[in-house]
Amino acid sequence: MADTGVDKKRRRFLIGATSAVGAVGVGAIAIPFIGSLTPSARALAAGAPVEVDISKLESGAMISIEWQGKVVFVVNRTSDMLSKLPSIVPQLKDPKSELSLQPEYVDKESRSREAEILVMLGKCTHLGCAPQYRPEVAPADLGADWQGGFYCPCHGSRFDLAGRVFKGAPAGTNMEIPPYYFISDSLLLIGENGVAA
Ligand code: FES
Repeated sequence: MADTGVDKKRRRFLIGATSAVGAVGVGAIAIPFIGSLTPSARALAAGAPVEVDISKLESGAMISIEWQGKVVFVVNRTSDMLSKLPSIVPQLKDPKSELSLQPEYVDKESRSREAEILVMLGKCTHLGCAPQYRPEVAPADLGADWQGGFYCPCHGSRFDLAGRVFKGAPAGTNMEIPPYYFISDSLLLIGENGVAA
């Protein structure tokens, strides 16, 4: 992970007691274990939290996983990406996520428990399309002001690298943050809040 100056000593590694947990590694898109279960077990597992191994998630990279039938983006943000978040605030509709869905324990600006690791539903808050991860700066199709973020190809909503929606977008709120916590430095559990750090 990038060094962002976050006080690592304050981090609490939380061990969750879960009855049915799916495991997903870096690069995985779906949850293969569900398909092999009985119908009743499958229904139970479909609502189960999902473990995600991020040990091989490179700085600046994103993976998509599935939880409860929803796509979840996990991004390992660089310190350079994080440093841009404050300067973008005047361009945002809801910079402190006062209107948007996120657990109370995530930081209001980075929208994460650990600054580098963004965990967010991969669903546009306009009409539900899947935004594209566009981390590059000033690409030709998004313009010179683009500092990296998420772009929805359906109607053009733009979100920053914390999933905060820009003014002028058809989407009204920031992208949603699901419940999650860190089991260890390299293992996430998506679908449970754990104990607030
Ligand atoms: S669904 Fe994303 S902008 Fe409309």
